Amino acid sequence: MRTDGQGSVGPEAVGRESCRPARVSIVVPCYNERDNVRPMVDALDHALAGRAWEVIFVDDSSPDGTIDVVRDLAAQDARVRGILRLGRRGLSSAVIEGILSSSAGIVAVMDGDMQHDERCLGQLLDAIETGGNDIAIGSRHVAGGDAGGLANRWRRMLSDAGIRVARRFMPVKVSDPMSGFFAIRRTLFTATAPHLSGTGFKILLDILMSAPVPLRVAEIPFVFRSRAAGESKLDSVVLIQFAAMMLDRLCRGYLPVRFISFCFVGLLGIGVNLGVLSVLLECGADFSLGQVVGTYVSMIVNFWLNNRLTYRDCRLKGAALVRGLCLFVLICSIGALANVGVAQMILSSGPRHWTSASVAGAAIAAVWNYAVSSTLIWKI
Ligand code: GDD
Ligand code: MN
Repeated sequence: MRTDGQGSVGPEAVGRESCRPARVSIVVPCYNERDNVRPMVDALDHALAGRAWEVIFVDDSSPDGTIDVVRDLAAQDARVRGILRLGRRGLSSAVIEGILSSSAGIVAVMDGDMQHDERCLGQLLDAIETGGNDIAIGSRHVAGGDAGGLANRWRRMLSDAGIRVARRFMPVKVSDPMSGFFAIRRTLFTATAPHLSGTGFKILLDILMSAPVPLRVAEIPFVFRSRAAGESKLDSVVLIQFAAMMLDRLCRGYLPVRFISFCFVGLLGIGVNLGVLSVLLECGADFSLGQVVGTYVSMIVNFWLNNRLTYRDCRLKGAALVRGLCLFVLICSIGALANVGVAQMILSSGPRHWTSASVAGAAIAAVWNYAVSSTLIWKI
């Protein structure tokens, strides 16, 4: 049961409150947060008493059934909504889709694990509504803020290093560009959305680096709390994605970040191929056998890495994984033939050095493998 800000309580009050159009939409990405959803809505109810708000939980089909709890709450309270995404993963893209699905003039983004202090929401919103800012950031690194809730020293070191790297490239200097707790004016988000990279964890950084206009930014201190339930989803792959996003911003979107990742995995594949070949040669196998085995082992490793890394947000599982691997081997085999064919063609067309012929062949194969795999296997 909720109060309507005037102090009246009861089902009618819920009805009246929920009929007011929301002036602020709170977008909450969540993955395996079933035990945090209810406390989150209760906390928002307290923190935003008197304001017209809605909350949108964006869930990537969490195995723990997070969306069921969201649905139960939504059935009782029209301010609560859920978006269920199928076959997708990714914090940034979840936030983007949540914001796009909402319509209030101001949007706030916060984690669904109670680590962000909802009591600071009012200040974030006021900084935009009455303070004339475009973005208000909940910062752990201004006076009064604290990153104490970061799981351990290692996480804190990584976070600090990330901030230092990010600050070098940001058009606007803020103390905590890695924060996932912020409010933004809708008009700014709408203008920025087409330029966003949308990969990885760092949606705020993405926005700061992609906004097409100069930004008025406010920073509000907050204390990063420890997790009450569930566990963090930040792993080493997310850090690689962070590096990829920075690279993508530096390439200004001309080179797709997936393609960079695909090529990076391809380079690792060459290492695997050579490794397997040399072991087999050591064991007395002949060169052609070693080369064939090395090639196929590297294709399997590349497929696995691409599925984990390059196409993390549309990762294949189960039968689709096996089908994908077969297709990948087929596509790469055609790519390898094209590679050799193009290199031969260039060599035979005139006096050229073998390295340029070989690089041209590899480039053609990389583009072919990437384009066809993206379309037929991971279907992006
Ligand atoms: N929909 C969706 N999909 N939500 C996700 C996904 C995903 O793939 N991965 C994580 N989330 C949700 C989590 O359920 C949580 O509500 C929120 O995003 C943050 O994830 P955590 O796994 O709790 O992140 P953290 O505590 O390690 O990271 C925090 O610190 C970073 C800076 O150090 C977060 O506040 C980040 O936003 C922040 O950038
Ligand atoms: Mn967290």
